[in-house]
Amino acid sequence: MSEILDTLSGAVRYLSFNRPRKMNALSRGMYAHLAKALNDSAGDFSVRAVIITSEGDHFTAGNDIVDFMDNPPSADSSEVAVFLAALLNFPKPLIAAVKGNAVGVGTTMLLHCDVVVATPSANFSMPFVSLGLVPEAGSTFLFPSLVGYQRAAKIFLTGESFSSTQALEMGLIAEIDGDALAVATRIAQQIAEQPPQAVINTKALLKARNHDSVAAVMRAEFEIFALALQSDEAMEAFMKFMAKKGSS
Ligand code: COA
Repeated sequence: MSEILDTLSGAVRYLSFNRPRKMNALSRGMYAHLAKALNDSAGDFSVRAVIITSEGDHFTAGNDIVDFMDNPPSADSSEVAVFLAALLNFPKPLIAAVKGNAVGVGTTMLLHCDVVVATPSANFSMPFVSLGLVPEAGSTFLFPSLVGYQRAAKIFLTGESFSSTQALEMGLIAEIDGDALAVATRIAQQIAEQPPQAVINTKALLKARNHDSVAAVMRAEFEIFALALQSDEAMEAFMKFMAKKGSS
């Protein structure tokens, strides 16, 4: 069974994380699938919107930590870098339906989505610093722009998580609903019925103000991130995670 369920329903493409036994931690193969699906959808007239969602109880526990240790991403051609570029440049509406934990890239990818719907119990966190790393996906630019410097710095530097109610108040998500996927589907279908070129042009205009800045910040974050992955601080945090696995 594929670790990304990839289906087209009408004009809406669904990409669903399907690795629930690992809390949908994102492997290199999953990033590669997601990137290709986004890039293909960009040029496919039959796709009017994409929904990112998940199987099981959680959205995703973020990047697979074992992959980080075994295959640390370093070049622009790494699967995660290609996925983040596809996310930044995706020209059509991208909608996320979030439930349970959205850790690390599970939260930072939402900063690129056009509409995010979450369940009341969804929980968001970006514990990069706690792992000896730095935030990625342009989040050091996008998150303070959204919530203000003080709140962004507190969340990044402490690694603390936040709830759906807080995410709604911050403007990270658009709606809270017990059936986030059903609401995301309704919104995607509504958008899919709009004139497609007007939708694409409007998204381009909405994103234009930040696009180049985000691309530059993403590059800088990635360079520091790649170095941090080799650091003693990161190794110590990863070993702690592995030790917890071993003892469970
Ligand atoms: N990478 C690889 N495997 C992961 C993972 C990750 N990021 N997150 C969870 N898993 C795996 C666990 O190892 C475990 O697998 P196992 O049963 O084979 O040991 C399974 O998913 C369930 O996770 P578990 O830790 O037992 O669940 P929990 O409810 O006790 O804790 C979290 C949930 C999210 C707090 C915890 O899994 C965690 O801290 N994960 C890492 C999150 C993270 O730091 N992500 C990277 C951000 S860059």
